[in-house]
Amino acid sequence: MRICVTGGAGFIGSAFVHMLLDTAGGGAGAGAGDPGAELGEGLELVVLDALTYAGNMENLADYRDDGRMSFIHGSICDTAAVARAFEACDAVVNFAAESHVDRSLEDAGAFIATNVEGTRILLDAAVEHGLRFVQVSTDEVYGSLGDDGLFYEDSPLRPSSPYAASKAAADLLVGSYVATHGLDAVITRCGNNYGPRQFPEKLIPLFITNALEDKALPLYGDGLNVRDWIHVDDHCRAIATVLLRGTTGRVYNVSATQEVSNREVCRSLLELLDKPWDLVRFVSDRPGHDRRYALSAERLRSELSWQPRISFAEGLAATVDWYRSNRGWWERVRSGDYRCFYERLYGRRLSDAGDSGENP
Ligand code: NAD
Ligand code: TYD
Repeated sequence: MRICVTGGAGFIGSAFVHMLLDTAGGGAGAGAGDPGAELGEGLELVVLDALTYAGNMENLADYRDDGRMSFIHGSICDTAAVARAFEACDAVVNFAAESHVDRSLEDAGAFIATNVEGTRILLDAAVEHGLRFVQVSTDEVYGSLGDDGLFYEDSPLRPSSPYAASKAAADLLVGSYVATHGLDAVITRCGNNYGPRQFPEKLIPLFITNALEDKALPLYGDGLNVRDWIHVDDHCRAIATVLLRGTTGRVYNVSATQEVSNREVCRSLLELLDKPWDLVRFVSDRPGHDRRYALSAERLRSELSWQPRISFAEGLAATVDWYRSNRGWWERVRSGDYRCFYERLYGRRLSDAGDSGENP
């Protein structure tokens, strides 16, 4: 099988490449029931990535000389690059996106261009080339939950941020191509991922890397927002399972049923890192900050027999170890004019935040 992986140099896309190539045809990393093993020895991957700030060739360095992977530097908004990447492919898994909520508050333009128009260009090309299409989407399309309840695949789409709205728009486009063009497409909607090689602007890698440097940790609002956390490898196994066995036109929620508040995440990280709580700064809340996400993944579990393998405690400890052991990776991506969102938005140093009366 030849698969085009768009956004394969980013966090989840590169984990997907690692998982498939490490387990293909029962390779060294393969375990019973691994989708990579099922995809077999003829597996070939074509990565199409624009290498934005979030794309990093270091993430694919293990396969530089591996004939099973080829790389095309190009955008999903470029029809010629997409046509080249789709040549002789059987399927495409679309990870390419602008993915950070805070950035979408500063400038939504790139989100609409890549997440909506880019997906439209991929869909047209998939129809033309007869490819199976997997759209990697997010629970954020459903909006925010109160203290109770879960999101199901037929819950209404009520996105709060421009990022979530652009992903919801893409999901609706995918559904429309199934209905009108008969495209063989499926959609996955997953909760918050964590794991190695995540860009240190998202909560967990930002807090790990800041704490390792004894820098402040900016916790938005009261820190009691809840996310449905999943290790990136469990997410990737779910995507591969849906690619292999998902029913055309269906949406599959992906969740390991691990709801944790931001305060709890922060406390666990500080414990693992043996750092004090007084690194935490309670700062102004994110505008439109969704309170809680929680998903039912019953469809994926019962119809496709997927289940998560990695507990939050185990996965978080392994993730902390990865950032400890790969300091060069995150120091390089944080170099230059890198500033966290809080500092960019408010134009002041995070180290001064506690002096401005924002700590409750
Ligand atoms: P990321 O920001 O780490 O990586 C995105 C990748 O896409 C980068 O390699 C970037 O260079 C590439 N890219 C951006 N614009 C492009 C374009 N126009 N053409 C080609 N490549 C482009 O994101 P991620 O966290 O790995 O997320 C991957 C996908 O999973 C996204 O679609 C995101 O919406 C979805 N998702 C993410 C999470 C999460 O917690 N991170 C949860 C659910 C779903
Ligand atoms: P994030 O990693 O940006 O993912 P998402 O917005 O897609 O859920 O944020 C996860 C949670 O952590 C969210 O409730 C916002 C919060 N957060 C902070 O409190 N401080 C931060 O610096 C960041 C980046 C996020």
